[in-house]
Amino acid sequence: MISFNHVTKVYGNGFPALKQVSFELADGEMAFLTGHSGAGKSTLLKIILLMERCSSGQVIVNHHPLDKIKGRDVAYFRRSIGVILQDPYLLPNSNVHQNVALPLILAGFRHQDIASRVRAALDKVGLLSKEKMPIETLSQGEQERVSIARAIVHKPKFLLADEPTGNLDPSLSAEIMHLFEQFNQLGVTVLIATHDLSLIGHLRHRILTLHQGRMVSAGVKMSMNEELFI
Ligand SMILES: Nc1ncnc2c1ncn2[C@@H]1O[C@H](COP(=O)(O)OP(=O)(O)O)[C@@H](O)[C@H]1O
Ligand SMILES: [Mg+2]
Repeated sequence: MISFNHVTKVYGNGFPALKQVSFELADGEMAFLTGHSGAGKSTLLKIILLMERCSSGQVIVNHHPLDKIKGRDVAYFRRSIGVILQDPYLLPNSNVHQNVALPLILAGFRHQDIASRVRAALDKVGLLSKEKMPIETLSQGEQERVSIARAIVHKPKFLLADEPTGNLDPSLSAEIMHLFEQFNQLGVTVLIATHDLSLIGHLRHRILTLHQGRMVSAGVKMSMNEELFI
């Protein structure tokens, strides 16, 4: 479960990027986080990842109050989360396997485990046959799928994506969304930030909407009164 309780984030320059944001995302849920550019979507994801700390309020992820997690424990905490950013940041001059294996190598997994987990992750995104291909030879959509395989290779409980289809055409974007739905059906809790409403319009998942740092709609979980209040 991810829970935000009156979370405010003020950056060092005094700019409030999130204002009193409250919502809950249950285990096994999939939701979209939307809102205009600058609404605070990336800030919200960075707070979940402990890349930024909130200024006030409380965030609980997987039963852990984030303010109790010290710097030295952050890397361990992040193992429960898979992350996909807009730019896939793949390793140049290396093959598909090496790219997907990277987080496992950094986390100190054994050599035998790495090989089998990488193959399982590539299989899930339909790229097993490209395992030994240099990363540069893959299409944009395939590279995006490599970044998804890398995000799920350590079997995270949560999957966070920040504008994952920002660079893709509509049919490839739909394909990527379908992959996220498949992971969700396997039990992964998924939160996808996107400003592209056309992408999510036809999908049945909950939509959390930020506007100038405020959560103006948290979808079906919000009570009738709160909806009217907005
Ligand atoms: N490191 C930072 N320092 C100061 N302001 C920031 C920083 N990061 C983001 N902001 C500001 O916070 C607001 C929200 O940004 P962001 O979370 O990136 O929004 P979104 O992802 O919805 O486009 C923006 O006005 C942005 O300029
Ligand atoms: Mg952003």
